[in-house]
Amino acid sequence: MTVQIDHALEEIRRFRPSPEFAAQAVADERLYEAAAADRLGFWADQARELLTWSTPFTQTLDWSNPPFAKWFHDGELNVAHNCLDRHVEAGLGDRVALHFEGEPGDSRSITYAELTAEVKRAANALLALGVQAGDRVAIYLPMIPEAVVAMLACARIGAVHSVVFGGFSSKSLQSRIDDAQAEVVITADGGYRKGKAFPLKPTVDEAIEAAETTVRSVLVVNRTGGDVAWVEGRDVSWSEQLAAADAEHEAQGFNAEHPLFILYTSGTTGNPKGILHTSGGYLTQAAFTHRNVFDLHPERDVYWCTADVGWITGHSYVVYGPLANGATQVLYEGTPDTPHPGRWWEIIEKYRVSILYTAPTAIRSFMKQGRDVVRDYNVRSLRLLGSVGEPINPEAWIWYRHVIGGGSIPVVDTWWQTETGAIMISALPGITDLKPGSAQVPVPGISIDIVDDDGNPIEGEGGGLLTITEPWPSMLRGIWGDPERFKETYWEKFGDKYFAGDGARRDEDGDIWLLGRVDDVMNVSGHRLSTAEIESSLVAHPWTAEAAVVGASDEATGQAVVAFVILKASQADQVTDVAAASDELRKHVAQQIGAIARPRQVFIVNELPKTRSGKIMRRLLRDLAEGREIGDTTTLADTSIMQVISEQVK
Ligand code: WTA
Repeated sequence: MTVQIDHALEEIRRFRPSPEFAAQAVADERLYEAAAADRLGFWADQARELLTWSTPFTQTLDWSNPPFAKWFHDGELNVAHNCLDRHVEAGLGDRVALHFEGEPGDSRSITYAELTAEVKRAANALLALGVQAGDRVAIYLPMIPEAVVAMLACARIGAVHSVVFGGFSSKSLQSRIDDAQAEVVITADGGYRKGKAFPLKPTVDEAIEAAETTVRSVLVVNRTGGDVAWVEGRDVSWSEQLAAADAEHEAQGFNAEHPLFILYTSGTTGNPKGILHTSGGYLTQAAFTHRNVFDLHPERDVYWCTADVGWITGHSYVVYGPLANGATQVLYEGTPDTPHPGRWWEIIEKYRVSILYTAPTAIRSFMKQGRDVVRDYNVRSLRLLGSVGEPINPEAWIWYRHVIGGGSIPVVDTWWQTETGAIMISALPGITDLKPGSAQVPVPGISIDIVDDDGNPIEGEGGGLLTITEPWPSMLRGIWGDPERFKETYWEKFGDKYFAGDGARRDEDGDIWLLGRVDDVMNVSGHRLSTAEIESSLVAHPWTAEAAVVGASDEATGQAVVAFVILKASQADQVTDVAAASDELRKHVAQQIGAIARPRQVFIVNELPKTRSGKIMRRLLRDLAEGREIGDTTTLADTSIMQVISEQVK
C-alpha cells in the first residue's frame, strides 16, 4: 500500500470535463450551493424528487438521540414500489431492467413490467410461508435475477433481508443465520463460476444443521439442475412456490425508518457485524448518488456494476439505486475471464454498456493481461467509468481511462463503506476536474473532516483520520442486536463524529486522497477482511498454538493475507513437512470463512514479535511480509526475535 501512496502523492495530472460531456451532465454545480445553504432542506428536496412517498414526511432529521438517527421518520414508502411499480405506472413497463448474462452463455432480458410481476409473486410466496414484516430472511444466491427478485420481495413485504455472499462457507452462513435469527433462507441448487457449476444447497443444509436458529423454510431456485438433497416439509421449490402464488400484490407503505436489510461486514474484532440499514434515507442517498455520480440518463444508458449482490456495492448500485432510478442494467453471473479473458468486453459490446462501475483489483488484473484483449472488442459505447472498494493507484486510473475508456471519458473514484450505505466522496462528472488516484470531494450534503488522533480538524493540507461530521441519510442505523458495539466502534473515538477507520490526506486544492485502513481491517481485492477473524480461524485448527495475520501489499489484490503461525509442540509429530502444514492451514481458513480469506502465505515460525505487555506487533510482521527493512523493534520484549523470525521465513 505504501508504494501506491508514494506514487499518488506525486501525481499531478488533471483532467477537465469535456464541454460536450459537461453540456449534457445530470449533475449541476447548484447542488453544492443548495446543500451548503441548507443541508437538511437539500436532502428533503432529494427525498421528495427522487422517491414516491405513500405518506409524505414533514420532518427531515431527528438527531435527538445521537448516534441513532432518524431520517424522514414520519413518512411512509414502499421501497419495492419505488424500484418497480411506479416505473410501470409511468409507462416504462417495457423498458429493460435487467440484461442477465449467465456464465455458460444463457441470457435473458427482463423488463420493468416483468420484474414487477415476478416480485409480486415472490412477495406472495414469502407471505404464504408465513414471513411477516420485520422477519429476517437470509439470501444465499449466485448473481442471477432471482437474487434481485428475492431482495425486492422482502422489501415489498417489509421483511429484512440478510444477503450472504455465495462464496462464504457454511460456518459463515450459519453464524449470520443465527445472529439475525433468520427463519427462512432463499438459495439455489448452485451457480456457475469459472466454467463449472458449484453447489450452494449442501452448504445451506450444513449451515442449518449447525445453527441454533430453527430455519422453517428453504426456498430453492433451480439454476444448475442436477440432484439436491431435499428436506421434506422444510425445502420448497422457488419456481413451484411462485407459480402457485397469487399474481397480484399491492405494496403497502412502511415507515421510513423500517429496517430494509442487514449486511454483515468485518470489523477489527470478533464476529462480523450486522450493519443495519433502513428505508427512506437509504433509498434517497442511493438514488441521488447513482443518478449524479454516474450521470445516469435512464432513457438511453446501459449501466453495469460488476459487484456481487453479496456486498454493499451490489445492494446500493445493482439493486436499490439503479432500480429506483429506472435504469437499464447488465447483471453478470460469472468471473471476468470465463470462458475467455475478453468476457467483460464482449458483454459491453453486446449490450452497448455506457456506464461501467468496478473495482481497482479487476482493473489491475486486466492491465496484467495487456491491452490487446480489450482491443478485440468494440467498447466505445462506454461514456463513464467508476471505481470503488480500495484506493485506485494513478497508473490503474490512467489505464482505465485510456485503454477501456478510449482516453477522454470521466473516471470517478467513489469512496464509501458498508456502513455509509451510499457514496460519500466522489467527483461529479461534468463538473469536477479529475485527479487520478484521488476520490476528491464530498458528495453534496455530506460533511467530511480529516482530523488528528485527538479529533482536531486538520486545516488546509495534511494527513490524518477520515471522519464524517454530520449525520447522512443512508448512514447505518446500528449494528444488529448490539447498540453498544455501534457506539463504541464508530462514535466513541471522537465523541460526536463518525470514525470511518480510513486514513486520508487533503491536498493543496482541498481534494481528498484515501490512504487505506488505519485499523486491523484488511482490504483484499476490495473485500473487507478482519485480521482477528482469520487469526481465530487459524487458532481453531488443532495444530495451531498461536497466529498473527497481516495485510501485506500485493500488486494484484491490493493487499493479501499473510499469516505467521506457531504450531503446538504436542502436534509436532503430525507435521512432517512445513510446506504441507502451511498448505493445510491455508485450506482450513478457506473452508472456515470462504475462499476470499485464504492466506497468500502461511509462515510456520517459533516465535511472534510481542511487546512487554504481550501485544503482537503486526507492524513488524508487515515489514517482513512486504520485504522491507524491519522497523523500530525497541519496544519488543525480546529485540532479537525479528532476526530469528526473518531467518525462518526465508
Ligand atoms: C475502502 C465498499 C479508497 C475503505 C463500498 C473503506 C476505498 C472500505 C474506496 C469499505 C475508495 C472503499 N478509495 N478506499 N474509493 N472505496 N474503500 O464496507 O478502506 O466493503 O473503509 O464498502 O473499503 O469497504 P466496504
